[in-house]
Amino acid sequence: MIPAFCDWLSNTPVSMVIQNLFWVIPTVQTVHILAIATVMASVVMLDFRLLGVTGRSQSIPEVAHRFLPWVWGAVAVLLASGSLLIIGEPGRELLSEVFWAKMTLLACALTLTGIFQYALRNGGSFWERRRIVTRVAAVVSLLLWCSILAAGRWIAYMAHG
Ligand code: HEM
Repeated sequence: MIPAFCDWLSNTPVSMVIQNLFWVIPTVQTVHILAIATVMASVVMLDFRLLGVTGRSQSIPEVAHRFLPWVWGAVAVLLASGSLLIIGEPGRELLSEVFWAKMTLLACALTLTGIFQYALRNGGSFWERRRIVTRVAAVVSLLLWCSILAAGRWIAYMAHG
């Protein structure tokens, strides 16, 4: 079913345009990489604050308020640019186990970020009081985002055909 969908998608006009204009894929990849830099920088600033390594002059809600919009904004850009890369080369992406591993890890990272944001709604006292939970969440978050980054790069080396 997925191979048939890839066949259909690669024959659509949008996919043909992406395939035939040589500059589209490198340009979209550049946008993807700029958004990766943004999301990783923001996540590191936030998680290092949760670990108590940096930014201790600001409270957790203040740091979250500063960096979470950049995380969600960059994820939106990643979704848009990633979707264009998929439309351009559907088989390369949708038939790759590494691609689906990356999407699963991304779903976990976004769920954790959503839970973190939800638990901030009472002024952040949850995260300020439960030090161990906060540190474990920060380490899990860093591991998840680094694994997504690695999986993104590995797609190219585990390609089918
Ligand atoms: C939001 C949904 C996302 C989608 C749909 C998506 C999709 C893609 C696709 C299709 C590729 C091309 C892979 C290839 O053919 O070699 C790619 C590359 C990549 N992605 Fe994503 N991605 C998303 C989010 C992310 C995130 C959150 C990260 C890291 C934090 C990330 C990191 C990477 C990296 C490092 C590459 C390789 C770039 C290169 O070598 O040019 N992606 N992504």
